[in-house]
Amino acid sequence: MTELILALDVLTREEALEIAEETYPYLDAIKLGYPLVLGAGLSVARELSQFDLPLIADFKVADIPNTNRLIAEHVFESGFSAIIAHGFAGSDSLKAIVEATENAGGECYVVAEMSHPGALEFLSGETAEKIAQMAVDCGTDGIIAPATRPERVKALRSIIKDKKILSPGVGAQGGDAREIAPLIDGMIVGRSIYNSENPAKEAEKFAFVRR
Ligand code: XMP
Repeated sequence: MTELILALDVLTREEALEIAEETYPYLDAIKLGYPLVLGAGLSVARELSQFDLPLIADFKVADIPNTNRLIAEHVFESGFSAIIAHGFAGSDSLKAIVEATENAGGECYVVAEMSHPGALEFLSGETAEKIAQMAVDCGTDGIIAPATRPERVKALRSIIKDKKILSPGVGAQGGDAREIAPLIDGMIVGRSIYNSENPAKEAEKFAFVRR
C-alpha cells in the first residue's frame, strides 16, 4: 500500500549507521533532517548511500529563490535523491527548488500541512489546500501531509491526485498506521523505530503497510 520511510533523527554518525544497517532491509527510503546533519555533518549522507536506499533531505527549505536554489543544488550534490521544501515562501521560491531538482534528476516534496497540534494555528485548512495546489502547479513530486489527520489527507488527495503524499505522524505522534496507509504513498516513521530496543524488529512490524 505504501512505502516505509525511516526518519533517522539520531544525533551521531555512529548511531545513524548502526540503525540503518539493522533496518535497511525493511525500508524503502531514509529521511535525514537537521538533527542528524547538524550532529554528524552533511557527509553522513554519502556514508548512508551504502544501503542503496533513496535519501530524503528534510530541510523544509523556505527562503528566497536564489538561496533555495543554492541549498537544493548542494543537497543533490551531497548524495540525496529528494528534498522537502516549505510552500509558504511562495511559488517563485518553490520553482527555484523544482528547477534544481529537475537538473539533478531528483524529487521535491512540499509541506502542505504539518502533523503536530500547533500546525493548526497557521498551516492547515485553506492555506494547506492552496499550498497543495501550488505543489501541483509548480511540478513537484508531491506533498507532506499529516498521518495524524486522515480526513485532511483525503481532502489534500483530491487536489494533488496522482502525485505522492508522504506522511509523518505515525507512532510517537499518535497516527494510526493501518488507517493512514491506504491513503498515502510513503509513511514516515522515526522515534518508534530508532528509539526502540530492537529497531529492526520494530521496522519489520510495518511490513504490512508496504507494497
Ligand atoms: P516521529 O519521531 O514523530 O518522526 O515518527 C517524524 C519525522 O517527520 C518529521 N515531521 C514532519 N515533517 N511535516 C514534515 O515535513 C510534518 O508535518 C512533520 N511532522 C513530523 C519530523 O521532523 C521527524 O523527522
